[in-house]
Amino acid sequence: MHTFRICCNKGVHPLAYFPDQNAVAINLQQLLRSAAGLLLAGSLALPGLEAAAAAPAEIQKSLETAARASTPGFGGLSAERGQRFFSSTHGNDWSCTSCHTPTPLAPGKHAKTGREIAPLAPAANPQRFTDAAKVEKWFNRNCNDVLGRVCTAQEKGDVLAYLMSLAK
Ligand code: HEC
Repeated sequence: MHTFRICCNKGVHPLAYFPDQNAVAINLQQLLRSAAGLLLAGSLALPGLEAAAAAPAEIQKSLETAARASTPGFGGLSAERGQRFFSSTHGNDWSCTSCHTPTPLAPGKHAKTGREIAPLAPAANPQRFTDAAKVEKWFNRNCNDVLGRVCTAQEKGDVLAYLMSLAK
């Protein structure tokens, strides 16, 4: 209460509200904590934000749902099939392993530019498969490079099942 009264006197420097540095630190901590709380509450309350913060399992689930709807005789996603798909060529020069290596727990290297690519497996890189829009963008681009067409939901789901099966 006391600090509030001082705060509103004209001519007092804003930082003079806080008696000492510890108090400033505590207030910053409280501020950060409530900001984190708001963010969490916001993402739970607003469906529009869901896509921005998805877990690999959620992205897998939506690929599985799409595969079930579009694949005749769909019998579930397969990590084994995903591994085969990932390491094979599909009519062009490159396979997925050309850039992401046959061990996606390790960093990859772009087959054309030579630039390092962070590991693709979520166990080695927690940012992977957490942003549905990013996942879609790169699946589209890379499938076009490797297959000359977009991948089907089942192909993408299988690849993700394979990548999620890899443990550090
Ligand atoms: C010519 C090189 C190249 C090839 C071949 C390639 N990729 Fe990639 N891939 C990249 C680059 C570059 C990125 C984006 C940079 C990054 O995210 O580190 C990327 C990112 C991705 C992502 C984004 C994942 C995320 O959540 O961040 C997915 C999914 C992916 N690739 C899947 C594949 C699959 C499946 C294949 C085979 C069909 C494949 N890639 C083949 C270069 C390649």
